[in-house]
Amino acid sequence: MESDPLRAAREAAGAGRAVPATAPPPTGAAPEPVHRSSATEVFDAILRENPELFKGNREILRETYIPSRLPHREHQIRQVAEVLAPALKGTVPSNLLIYGKIGTGKTAVVAQVRLDVQRRTDMARKLTFVTINCGNVETPYSLLQTIGNTFAPTESDRIPTGWSLDRVQASMRQMMDTRGGIVLLVLDEIDRLVARSGDGVLYTLSQVNTELDKARLVLIGISNDLKFTNNLDARVRSRLNEEKILFPPYDAPQLQDILRDRATEVFREGVVDAGVIERCAAYAALENGDARRALALLRLAAEMAERDRSKRITSDHVIKAKSRLEQDIIVECCRTLPPHCKVLMYAILQAFERRREGVQTGDVYDGYTRLAQRLGLQPLHARSISNYLSELENLGLIRATIVSRGRGGRTREIVVDVPVSETFPALLDDPLLAPLARPRSLSQTILTNFDNPGRTGPSS
Ligand SMILES: Nc1ncnc2c1ncn2[C@@H]1O[C@H](COP(=O)(O)OP(=O)(O)OP(=O)(O)O)[C@@H](O)[C@H]1O
Ligand SMILES: [Mg+2]
Repeated sequence: MESDPLRAAREAAGAGRAVPATAPPPTGAAPEPVHRSSATEVFDAILRENPELFKGNREILRETYIPSRLPHREHQIRQVAEVLAPALKGTVPSNLLIYGKIGTGKTAVVAQVRLDVQRRTDMARKLTFVTINCGNVETPYSLLQTIGNTFAPTESDRIPTGWSLDRVQASMRQMMDTRGGIVLLVLDEIDRLVARSGDGVLYTLSQVNTELDKARLVLIGISNDLKFTNNLDARVRSRLNEEKILFPPYDAPQLQDILRDRATEVFREGVVDAGVIERCAAYAALENGDARRALALLRLAAEMAERDRSKRITSDHVIKAKSRLEQDIIVECCRTLPPHCKVLMYAILQAFERRREGVQTGDVYDGYTRLAQRLGLQPLHARSISNYLSELENLGLIRATIVSRGRGGRTREIVVDVPVSETFPALLDDPLLAPLARPRSLSQTILTNFDNPGRTGPSS
């Protein structure tokens, strides 16, 4: 049976009696009783019963935290440093492309090297880092504007919106030249920039040195799309590829080392059960060796433990964390479906919720058509719907099985592979689908009316 912290507190408080201070009195001084309020006793007892899992700073488990050590990336850190080192002797380093699958430490390694450069005055004087996450940059204009503005000495020197692209480029060059030295431009998630706006702006940047006087630009591209350079103009590709560093996925023992480092930093001693780190690492190793996933599992497992008011993080918490993480990923995946695919998924969920078993594709198609018409959309043809069904199946959101219907032949049935109640709101988040927000079901209406006899008739 769980012990009762409140009772323990009451006992410790001795039913309101004063408790002696725990620290010994100074020698020679008379012991002085310290009067502690019963509330303090309750708080202390609760802490004793449910000791904090965390030492203090929970941010250590967040993605944005840069740990002081990056186990199993020593080699890559050295490689990046070797590319940049010529700057110490006044030579312009080569452009660099860093690539590897998601969560392999690319961003973290570059952030680490940047910190190391900034700590050394001899390097910091010669090198200026500008780091841009291309996922947050909409257009070539905003990219050049952001680069230029990092060199703007005052607010009034900043490049506004609305200039011509040529003027932005000229202003960016001029501000870089005023600063002088070597500018290391880190374009993180560079593939997203190219996917969004082509490689024109990379061409501009890769040949900007010919127009600079006192400054020199070095490009460091980071990508998790290993093939993205295939779509680049040959000149851009060869300039960007002067040096290349591959980040391989982590294996399970490597992920364990990464997690152990963080766990020691973030958790109090003895709160992580044996097997917890191993389990998080094993799950993440199966998911492409993604350190982000491993850390997210550990963080969620700790949150589950806290919610259970557990004194320790156990393997059970990791199992719960894994299914929660999978749900979150599924819901996120639904949010990014194309509009008609969302309507189709909605129709599947509706039919599945009604039947609680496999639904036939014909019923799904009818349901989709009705919903599309209700939303004022022109329903897609059966062939397109069939393609979307395959896409939903590939994403793991549904499963389609062939069911034998006796003499009626064989038919395809669809089963939903996602948590229904969480997926509905994810789809309804799209303003296009918002009008479908479900009216209260009849059973709810009846119950409500029973509770409030004053109300009659179905509610809307
Ligand atoms: N060797 C490591 N030691 C400690 N933490 C690491 C290590 N590698 C990665 N991490 C951590 O894992 C998370 C993901 O790493 P990071 O963001 O660097 O991955 P990435 O390769 O840039 O992924 P993406 O391609 O998705 O951007 C971060 O929180 C990072 O601190
Ligand atoms: Mg990254």
